[in-house]
Amino acid sequence: MKILSIVGARPNFMKIKPIYEEFKKRKIDQVLVHTGQHYDENMNRVFFEDLELPKPDVFLGIGSGTHGVQTGAMMSRIEEVLSLEKPDLTVVVGDVNSTLAGAISSIKMQIPVAHVESGYRSFDMRMPEEINRILVDRISQFLFAPTEDAVNNLISEGADKKRIFFVGNVMVETLLSHLQKSKKSKILKNLSLEPDNYGLMTIHRAENTADPEKLIELFTSLAKIDHKIIVPLHPRTKKVLEELGYLKKLGANVEIIEPLGYLDFLWLMSNSKFVMTDSGGIQEEALMLDIPCITLRENTERIVTLKNGANILVGTDTLKLSSALQEIPKRKRIYPKPPLWDDKVSKRIADSIIRHPDLFAL
Ligand code: UD1
Repeated sequence: MKILSIVGARPNFMKIKPIYEEFKKRKIDQVLVHTGQHYDENMNRVFFEDLELPKPDVFLGIGSGTHGVQTGAMMSRIEEVLSLEKPDLTVVVGDVNSTLAGAISSIKMQIPVAHVESGYRSFDMRMPEEINRILVDRISQFLFAPTEDAVNNLISEGADKKRIFFVGNVMVETLLSHLQKSKKSKILKNLSLEPDNYGLMTIHRAENTADPEKLIELFTSLAKIDHKIIVPLHPRTKKVLEELGYLKKLGANVEIIEPLGYLDFLWLMSNSKFVMTDSGGIQEEALMLDIPCITLRENTERIVTLKNGANILVGTDTLKLSSALQEIPKRKRIYPKPPLWDDKVSKRIADSIIRHPDLFAL
């Protein structure tokens, strides 16, 4: 069997790692394609190094652009690769534009698609990722769901039940297998931080960077927090803040740093007092690490993280943010973990593919 996997953006890399290793163990013929959606050193190469992922077999070098330009360019190049490689199955992960481009190009060439992280829904069509998730799930033959609520979303949308596999969260498998290694990180020392004595914030989503006023209000409110706040800044957010001339006006307790590699970020998050983020994956990682999470979004597709108060949604409402921050000392520090968020997710994925040759038919 030959499987072609497509990645492109930072959150894809940690999702493909265990799957790639499991296929390798089973001696499955593999092709790893990187679209080049993320290309900066610290958004791309560092992750391949930290995760010990092999150099991609094919690098498309697409880069940034509007959604149409970026997705279209990816599709036309992926089509060329697929006609050359002729895989039996294409694997796509997550919800980024590379995921969508890979799935559409593949199904149009009548090559079945497996979608890992299937069924998550924020029910917010203003999010490009929500559009990607819905479209990819609709055209995929294997739907690998991370949670029971994701399975229910797929069923309620009319997905064929025999194509839905509740396998758990593959990113958790990567986290569990890299925790030990992350302890060697020098990031706390480099930033002169004491464990449990700082907050960590990431913010990059289109809906949060599109409104400069809201973004500045949020950054201004950080100055009122009586903790140091470390902000590894995504290039998109950096550009907006730079254009506004705001980077020089940050509160003294706010420290902007470059985006971090996987192991440094994991260690920084593991030792933080709380996390504020608009990322999807970080909400899940915080839950696994028992770090209280405040999500800078109005909604989340990761609803399982909201149970037991592990994650609180505040959007960019600074009043809600400050009351969530006051809650933190009262919050539990050990949260129950969702079922199948363990170290066997990739094994379940590989087993499901191998045991269901019937599902390769479109
Ligand atoms: C993408 C995903 C998002 C994910 C995020 C993780 C989509 C629709 N969105 O958003 O779901 O959470 O990745 O980071 O696929 N840029 C650089 N260097 C890079 C990459 C991007 O400077 O290596 C800048 C460019 O100005 C680019 C902008 O960031 O235009 C946005 O990049 P893009 O890949 O379009 O989306 P992300 O915001 O990174």
